[in-house]
Amino acid sequence: MNKKVTKCLFPAAGYGTRFLPATKAIPKEMLPVLTKPLLQYGVEEAQSAGITTMAIVTGRGKRAIEDHFDRSYELENQINGTSKEQLMFGIREIIETCTFSYTRQVEMKGLGHAILTGETLVGNEPFAVVLADDLCDNADGDAVLSQMLEVYEKYQCSVVAVEEIPMQDTNKYGVIAGEVMTDSLVRVENMVEKPEPKDAPSNLAIIGRYILTPDIFDILRETKPGKGGEIQITDALLEQAKQGKVIAYKFKGKRFDCGSVDGFVEATNYFYEEK
Ligand code: G1P
Repeated sequence: MNKKVTKCLFPAAGYGTRFLPATKAIPKEMLPVLTKPLLQYGVEEAQSAGITTMAIVTGRGKRAIEDHFDRSYELENQINGTSKEQLMFGIREIIETCTFSYTRQVEMKGLGHAILTGETLVGNEPFAVVLADDLCDNADGDAVLSQMLEVYEKYQCSVVAVEEIPMQDTNKYGVIAGEVMTDSLVRVENMVEKPEPKDAPSNLAIIGRYILTPDIFDILRETKPGKGGEIQITDALLEQAKQGKVIAYKFKGKRFDCGSVDGFVEATNYFYEEK
């Protein structure tokens, strides 16, 4: 029988240099959109997809992440019974229902390497990956990860979330091409990490949501550094794609690139209006 996806991996070791000096002493994943850190949005998305085991790949200077997903007795004592208490209900519920485990990426060798570092937390199971700086919201229904799990359950192979982007932006993303299966599904045949527009196989960009089958770890072990001298998950996925085992899914909902200042401001305005 095929295994269910019960774990979500969050690569969170990057330096967040685009947000310096804010990210000098706090992890970029802890930057708040309104009152919630980016990573909490990602965890809530995983939780809403029925995933309760959160596996986080951190690095030096990222301890605030562990403290955030833990009780804070002194603070809670102070605010219990006051009007502020309700501000903690969301995070408290997460702490009570989810488990968190951590491992550190000692060297920054790319997203593929970060995911491989998470193998020790994930084991030999299919798993989800959320890049917290891609903040997603689907006001009209299921969260993006839940939508992807439905695709995974049907096809039992790796799934990447994609969206159409302006052609001039292809050099910011992994870009896919393949055989159109339905309005929202493409069987991936080619994928390239951050191609220049003239080399891009399409304008369908991968956003930071993946469901990966565990054979990806063996592939990643063999994957040579690619774009930028880093081990790229896109290159490893291409190996699976060559066997017809990657589906790209055009998700329903909105996605904000909170790795950029513009995207971050957009997300802030959106959630301020929405919530
Ligand atoms: C990473 C991936 C890229 C993907 C992107 C989504 O790039 O390498 O393929 O399109 O995430 O956000 P990064 O944004 O970490 O440079």
